[in-house]
Amino acid sequence: MQRQVSYPQAIISKYPEQIVIGIARDSKGTHNPITLGWTMIVSHEPPMMAVAIGKTRYSLEAFRHAREFVIAFPSEHQQDEAMLFGTKSGRDLDKLAAAGCPVIPAGKIDSVLLADAVANFECRLTAELEAGDHVIFVGQIVCSHVNDKPLNRLYTVGEGYKMAGLPRS
Ligand SMILES: Cc1cc2nc3c(=O)[nH]c(=O)nc-3n(C[C@H](O)[C@H](O)[C@H](O)COP(=O)(O)O)c2cc1C
Repeated sequence: MQRQVSYPQAIISKYPEQIVIGIARDSKGTHNPITLGWTMIVSHEPPMMAVAIGKTRYSLEAFRHAREFVIAFPSEHQQDEAMLFGTKSGRDLDKLAAAGCPVIPAGKIDSVLLADAVANFECRLTAELEAGDHVIFVGQIVCSHVNDKPLNRLYTVGEGYKMAGLPRS
């Protein structure tokens, strides 16, 4: 059986939702991280991923300016960083410096990797699509990295940006 409800009532059933951090260099030369839940793998060969960035976000300018970006999978230990990157804007703050988050230069693009993340993917922009109040950026993955340690990924598990790590089976 199914019961008809409003969209807001139905969409809260999406949790847990994966969290990624997108990082693009802005026109001032600052690497700006943004926390993102709306993301997916879109191609296996070549490997490609997509993220949806709100039209009001500073990251929209940074992604368009850089045309390349990193997608990092934060670990369960990076909840504070994910909250900071997801509630503060790069318009007003160097978020990576504020978080004191260790970074490593990316290998093939002008961006940085999150040293403590579960994995990092270097992407070159291949397409941009407007979708309502967000813009979808599609990137081809040109270099991939994983942490030496076995770490659990970070998810949003409930409303109000409630986050938790979920184990891999
Ligand atoms: C768990 C979580 C998931 C989020 N998902 C998205 C998302 O998919 N797309 C988006 O545009 N903003 C998302 N946000 C909000 C942005 O991260 C937030 O507005 C951020 O401060 C924008 O930073 P910027 O202005 O430096 O780009 C999310 C925030 C959190 C905490």
